[in-house]
Amino acid sequence: MAAAPILALQGIALTFGTTQLLEAAELSVLPGEKIALVGRNGSGKSTLLKIAAGEVEADAGKRFLQPGATIRYLPQEPDLSAFPTTLAYVEAGMEAGDDHYRATYLLNALGLTGEESPKNLSGGEARRAALARVLAPEPDIILLDEPTNHLDLPAIEWLESELSTIKSALVIISHDRRFLADLTRVTYWLDRGLTRRLNKGFAGFEEWRDSVLEEEEMARHKLDRQIVREEHWLTFGVSARRKRNVRRLGALFDLRQERKD
Ligand SMILES: Nc1ncnc2c1ncn2[C@@H]1O[C@H](COP(=O)(O)OP(=O)(O)O)[C@@H](O)[C@H]1O
Ligand SMILES: [Mg+2]
Repeated sequence: MAAAPILALQGIALTFGTTQLLEAAELSVLPGEKIALVGRNGSGKSTLLKIAAGEVEADAGKRFLQPGATIRYLPQEPDLSAFPTTLAYVEAGMEAGDDHYRATYLLNALGLTGEESPKNLSGGEARRAALARVLAPEPDIILLDEPTNHLDLPAIEWLESELSTIKSALVIISHDRRFLADLTRVTYWLDRGLTRRLNKGFAGFEEWRDSVLEEEEMARHKLDRQIVREEHWLTFGVSARRKRNVRRLGALFDLRQERKD
């Protein structure tokens, strides 16, 4: 039997002002699945991840989180200001039964002591503390928005090896193509408010995207040619001049409408 998703988004729609950012976006996360979420700048990836995290509410659609499943979200801009130290910040993300030694272990592995005050942190240090916070409780799902931002190469390599062995399911947004290609085995492509799922990691994405776009372009050309043919018939066709063919005129209108959509 196929495993049930631990997190699922269905038919997610969201409009900001007058722009519809998401129309019917989907996301389905199976236990342990390593997923890349990709799309152009401004396509709504961060927003979709926030909806998955439960931090933003959609206008329409369903969010399902398996009862009892634990989820952690790494925001693009972590805010540590409410905590006295980096260790307090990491521990606040853990639960009673969690292994608290892991908080210190992760902070140290990421080059922090745990005693740093959030006031004096650089962007890179804040990001490393935030990574320790989402990794420490070993949740069922980790949602990561640009996890390699502000990290130096050794830290990126450490993170990649940590994420490649972790049992948690991952959904990763990253501009770091090698990082995504090495880690992910499933890709969700967000494009014009809709998502498409590929059961291959980011390494297989570009070839797939190009073939999808090519097919779309061919369908559009075919429709354009059909419209031209119909217009020609209605203007010059003998029977069109003799009597108006209302049904065919209606069909042309439908074709133009379809082309517009
Ligand atoms: N809270 C918000 N209010 C208004 N517009 C927003 C809000 N959040 C995001 N947007 C807009 O939605 C678009 C998509 O943003 P985002 O989800 O960050 O995309 P991505 O992560 O793919 O670059 C952007 O144009 C952004 O300005
Ligand atoms: Mg973003």
